[in-house]
Amino acid sequence: MSINNEAELIGMKKASEAVATTLRKMIDYAQPGMTTKELDDFGNDLLKELGARSAPYLAYGFPGCTCISVNNEFCHGIPTNDRVLAEGDLVNIDVSAELNGFWSDNGASFVLGRDIYGHGELVEASRTILQKAINNIKGGVRISDIGGLIETEARKRGLKVVKNLTGHGIGRSLHEEPLDIASYRDRFNKQRFKKNSVVAIETFISTDSTMAVTLSDNWTMAGNKGGFMAQHEHTIVVTDGKPLILTAMNGIWN
Ligand code: CO
Ligand code: CO
Repeated sequence: MSINNEAELIGMKKASEAVATTLRKMIDYAQPGMTTKELDDFGNDLLKELGARSAPYLAYGFPGCTCISVNNEFCHGIPTNDRVLAEGDLVNIDVSAELNGFWSDNGASFVLGRDIYGHGELVEASRTILQKAINNIKGGVRISDIGGLIETEARKRGLKVVKNLTGHGIGRSLHEEPLDIASYRDRFNKQRFKKNSVVAIETFISTDSTMAVTLSDNWTMAGNKGGFMAQHEHTIVVTDGKPLILTAMNGIWN
């Protein structure tokens, strides 16, 4: 969506605060021994208290409130009682929701407890690359240039990017135009970021795979060549200068 007045900005700020505080609290709540269903229930209660509704459930009938993906799972992991979190797991939580007709989206990968499997570097790469990407977005910048930046930064670190997962416009629904804010230079994409538009910017940084494939549960995605992926995501408003980061409250850069 494009922000045209104060009421729309306030609406987007409220929805974004809801998903950002929920993500932050879920990250802090996650513990070894906890199931992903318990973690999701905790997030569901938080969103409800804030008057927000799960976006993946509303928009796609996702069997959970938030997406929780662990280790080799890249994204859209279904919260379940069968998945017990363990020390050193690479965990991704993606929280998106609707509040009063406004939709916002954010996500983060992190290592649970001590980094015994050495996922820290991948996580740190994703975190800092998102920061660099967002700092380079303003009205008029080509979407493909930001994709190129993400890909270049990943390569510098000996990492890859996943090409079939993308950031997207957001605001009046979960996924809006521009639908393909890729993590690589898509030379067919001539679109530019527009001032006042709301977009969800996400990194998809991986160790081995360049494509994500859907597993047999029809939701969870993993890599075509296995390995691990880290994702960080903020919902932002594009301006003439530095973007306004609506989900800053999730503290993923702190
Ligand atoms: Co998301
Ligand atoms: Co998103």
